[in-house]
Amino acid sequence: MCGIVGYIGPRQATPILVNGLRRLEYRGYDSAGVAVWEGGSARVVRCQGKLRGLIEKLEVEPAPGKVGIGHTRWATHGRPSDVNAHPHKVGRISVVHNGIIENHLALRHELEASGSKFSSETDTEIVAHLVSAEIEDAKDLTAAVQKALGKVIGAFAIVVMDEKNPDVLVAAKNASPLVIGLGEGENFVASDVTAILDETKEMVFIEEGEIVTITRDAVVITDLEGNPVTREAKTIRWTAAQAEKDGYRHYMAKEIHEQPRAVADTLAGRVDLEHDTVALDGNDIDVSNIKRIVMVACGTSYHSSLVGKFLIEQMSRIPVEVDMASEYRYRDPVVNDTDLVIAISQSGETADTMGAVQLAKERGAKVLAISNVLESSIPRLADYAFYTHAGPEIGVASTKAFTTQLVSLTLIAIHLGRQTGKLAPERARELLAEMVTLPNKMADLIEHGAQLQVIARRYGNSQGFLFMGRGNQYPIALEGALKLKEISYIHAEGYSAGEMKHGPIALIDENLPVVVLVPQGPLYEKTVSNLTEVRAREGKIIAIASSGDQEIGALADEVVMIPNTLPELQPILSVVPLQQLSYYVADHKGTDIDQPRNLAKSVTVE
Ligand code: M6R
Repeated sequence: MCGIVGYIGPRQATPILVNGLRRLEYRGYDSAGVAVWEGGSARVVRCQGKLRGLIEKLEVEPAPGKVGIGHTRWATHGRPSDVNAHPHKVGRISVVHNGIIENHLALRHELEASGSKFSSETDTEIVAHLVSAEIEDAKDLTAAVQKALGKVIGAFAIVVMDEKNPDVLVAAKNASPLVIGLGEGENFVASDVTAILDETKEMVFIEEGEIVTITRDAVVITDLEGNPVTREAKTIRWTAAQAEKDGYRHYMAKEIHEQPRAVADTLAGRVDLEHDTVALDGNDIDVSNIKRIVMVACGTSYHSSLVGKFLIEQMSRIPVEVDMASEYRYRDPVVNDTDLVIAISQSGETADTMGAVQLAKERGAKVLAISNVLESSIPRLADYAFYTHAGPEIGVASTKAFTTQLVSLTLIAIHLGRQTGKLAPERARELLAEMVTLPNKMADLIEHGAQLQVIARRYGNSQGFLFMGRGNQYPIALEGALKLKEISYIHAEGYSAGEMKHGPIALIDENLPVVVLVPQGPLYEKTVSNLTEVRAREGKIIAIASSGDQEIGALADEVVMIPNTLPELQPILSVVPLQQLSYYVADHKGTDIDQPRNLAKSVTVE
C-alpha cells in the first residue's frame, strides 16, 4: 500500500519527509518521491525502487524548502517507474495519493479531450489535472480541491501543494487513512501514524469525506461541502513498532482487518451494475477460442483456484482443471493453444507457478495471471494480467490476498459467463450487486471475531484438527487447515465432507476438534448429515454456519455465524473465521505468527 507524508513549518522538509518515508518502508513499495517548495516553485524528485535510490538522487539534486509532500508508491495503475512515481505535478499543483480512482478512465478521456497532456499512466495524475483546472478560478486551494474531488469516484487520501500558495497544504480523505500531526509552529500530514511519530505524538484522525487545510499554525477540517468539523487531537502512546502494525500485535491481524478495504479496492472500477458486466482491466480474452481452462498455483493461491473452478464452470460452462504448479510443470501435461491457463500468485514470483506458466506458454496456451504485485515476474510473462488490490501482504500466512483472489475469480467467472452467454444477465446483476455489499458484511464478521478467541483457547491445546466442507466450501476447509498448521504448528487436515467415511472418520474421538463449514445452500443437508456422523463419534464440532440457522446450535459444540450471502460468494466470508481461529490458536501457543518457522513469504526457489 502506498504511504504519504507531508510537512509545513520552519524546518527543512526533505529530511522529515525522507525519515517519514523510511518509517513506511515496512509496508512495501516500488518507488518513492518528494515535492518540496522553495523560491516560487516546487521541485519534484522521484525514483523507482528503494528509498536509498531517492536519497542518492536527492544528494545530486537537493530539494531544499520548508513545505513539502512525499510518497512511497505500491503500483496499481501503471507499472513501477520514475514517471509513475508520486508526487505528480501539473502546472502549479503537486499531488500525492493513496487509493484508487475508480472513474479514472472516464476522467482521463474527458481531460484529454479538453487538451490535457498526461505524462504518466497513473490514476493519480488525474487529480493533479483536475485541481490544476480549478485553481485559477477558485478562491483558494481548499476550494479548488473541493471542486475537483466532486468529480472523483473512489478511495483516496490525497495531499495537494500549490507552488503559488506555499503557506498551505490541503489534504482530503475518502476510505484511505489520513492523519494530521500537530507541532509547535509546524504541522504534519501522513497516511499512517508511523510516518510522523518521530515528530509528534499529538494526532488528529481525519474521517471520510473530510478536507483539511494545513498551515504552520492551524489545521482546519471541513466536510466536502465546506461545513466546519471539530475534532479533538489524540495523544498516541504506541511505540513505532506498534504503529507499523496500526496498533495490532501482528501483521496477520492487521491484514485480516484490512480485508473489507482490500475487497472494496479489488472491486473498485470493475463492476458495472448498469450493464451487468465486469471490466477486466482491458484484458480482451477471446472466449470463442477457449475449449478448456487450466488453473495453476501453489499453497493458498491453489486453494483459491479450487474455488475458481466452481465459479468458472458454473457460470461459463467452460471445463476447468486445477493443478498444483509444482506437479503440473513435471508431468508433461496436455496443453495447447485452445487452453487458457490461469496462474494465481500473490507475489507473482513463485518459482513453481512461474515454471508452469513458462511450460504452458511454450506449448501455445494463452496465460492470464492473477497477482497482487504489479509488474512482478508472472504477470509480466503472462498474456493477460489481472491484479488483486489487496496492498502489500507482509504476514507469511496469506489472508487478504486469498479473499481478493476469490473476488477476482468471481469477477472473471462473471465476465466469462456473460461472454459465453451461459450466465443470465439477471443472475450477473444479482451477483454483482451482492458483491458490492461484501466489504460491509466482512467488516461486521471481523468485528465479531472475539468469539474465535474463546474457541481458540478452548481447543488450542489439541493435537490435531480436522476441517471439512462440501462443494465450494471444500477448498475453504483446505485453506483453514493450511492456515492453522503453518502458524500454530498443529497438524490439521482439510477434507471434503463426503470423503469422511472413506478414511478420516477413523480419527474421530472426543479429543478431535472438527471444523465443519455448513452455510445455507444446496449442500446444507448433506453436510449436516456428515456433521452428525462426527457427533455420533464424540468429535468436538465447531460449525461455521449462516446467520439465522436455527438447527445447527443443537448439533454443534460451537457455532460461528457468518452473514448471509449468495452461495457462490460464501467462501469469501466463511474463510474469515478460519483465519481468525488459526491466528488466535497460534497466539495462544505463542508461535511466531508473522514469520513461522521454515517458511518464506515468497518461494522463489524450487
Ligand atoms: O505468492 P504466491 O501466491 O504464489 O504463494 C504461494 C504460496 O507459497 C503461499 O500461498 C503460501 O502457501 C502461504 N504461506 C499460505 O499462507
